Amino acid sequence: MKIAMIGAGYVGLVSGACFSEFGIEVCIVDTDLAKVEALRKGVIPIFEPGLDALVADNVRDGRLTFTTSTEEAVDGADAVFIAVGTPSRRGDGHADLTYVFAAAEQVAKALKAPAVIVTKSTVPVGTGRKVQAIVKAARPDLQIDVASNPEFLREGSAIGDFMRPDRVVIGTDSERAQAVLKRLYRPLFLIETPILFTGLETAELTKYAGNAFLAMKITFINEIADLCEKTGADVHDVARGIGLDGRIGRKFLHPGPGYGGSCFPKDTLALTKTGQDFGVPIRLVETTVAVNDARKKAMAGRVAAAAGGLKGKTVAVLGLTFKPNTDDMRDSPALDIVPALLEAGASVRAYDPEGMKAAKPLLPDAVQYCKDALDTAAGADVLVVITEWNEFRALSPARLAATMKGKVVVDLRNIFDPVAIREAGFAYTSIGRH
Ligand SMILES: NC(=O)c1ccc[n+]([C@@H]2O[C@H](COP(=O)([O-])OP(=O)(O)OC[C@H]3O[C@@H](n4cnc5c(N)ncnc54)[C@H](O)[C@@H]3O)[C@@H](O)[C@H]2O)c1
Repeated sequence: MKIAMIGAGYVGLVSGACFSEFGIEVCIVDTDLAKVEALRKGVIPIFEPGLDALVADNVRDGRLTFTTSTEEAVDGADAVFIAVGTPSRRGDGHADLTYVFAAAEQVAKALKAPAVIVTKSTVPVGTGRKVQAIVKAARPDLQIDVASNPEFLREGSAIGDFMRPDRVVIGTDSERAQAVLKRLYRPLFLIETPILFTGLETAELTKYAGNAFLAMKITFINEIADLCEKTGADVHDVARGIGLDGRIGRKFLHPGPGYGGSCFPKDTLALTKTGQDFGVPIRLVETTVAVNDARKKAMAGRVAAAAGGLKGKTVAVLGLTFKPNTDDMRDSPALDIVPALLEAGASVRAYDPEGMKAAKPLLPDAVQYCKDALDTAAGADVLVVITEWNEFRALSPARLAATMKGKVVVDLRNIFDPVAIREAGFAYTSIGRH
């Protein structure tokens, strides 16, 4: 079988490489010439564990190719996946579908034989019907079926998530599209992955409902953490106490500075807009969005309070990406926290193992980037942990104490052992525990 993947971003590149690993011939197309040239030279434009080897193996075996030409990519394809971005539309927060619609039209015009167009991008309910209309208007002469196959992979563990997903959701009215997608996902049928066949609208809404639920879960534990701080309770024990209840589950109960990333912020916001459009406001999600935005903005205040003011102080920031094991800076809490630290009069030294290249254009020029965690901490008055990279967990409190000028640690991810860090002489603030 042969497929084309439109978009060589986090989703397109990972899913394309994984499909080629399934033995399918895959051509990935991107409009970004620099990205395609880099990929052709074997340079992976993003950081995702294991992706370089997976791409190299499949390129070597001739199953995975890259191009900037949609015509070339879709030639002979049984299915064409659209994996382009759906960012928040400036001004109103709806999902911006410009790239999806443009890709659908380009693909329809380029196809020479019947095929299935599959939307992998996260798109609001109703988009698949619009794609059907675009495709029909562009190519009334050709049978092109449309399906929705939302992607649930997580950056940082994307390959494992794609190869061994909790489930695959396929939304389509077309039996032919169903048959093609069944063949493409055959390796997952063989490992008994639940595959849900639904209508277009259901598949589209399932993706948003899933992300919104997870975002609510994080926001819930964040608010419980705030209450723990005021009452003497420990949020980790509360999280364990509720998470052991099978109806709740233990995952996504880690308190922090607020959710960020390429999906939750834009998808929760887009879902609230869809709800409002249909006269069905999703109030829980509206509140989640507002609480999370306020939380990210409030974090610099926590640092200032812990440090007794920030004017003239040096803050060492560990971690900039929205989570570890990615270089993705989209909507990272660091984008709220770091500028606010600077505005409060602090100098900021920062380090992230993979995110500094992406962070530089998004953060004020005043930030000083460092070569590792200890270099960042050198001479600092305050240390702030924004992202829980494993290498930060391994830092010795004694070595930190020896290199820092001040003795204040604000741990927004609860990575340090409170006893050990206090024994090293630090005033230690974390989230939801004492
Ligand atoms: N990043 C994630 O973890 C994740 C997880 C699940 C779902 N999603 C969803 O998947 C979609 C893609 O997300 P992403 O993070 O991979 O985006 P991205 O911004 O990393 O990648 C999108 C790519 O598409 C390319 N592109 C845009 N228009 C094109 C066109 N007409 N032809 C060819 N290439 C084109 C861009 O140049 C870019 O390289 C979004 O809808 C997102 O919500 C993302």
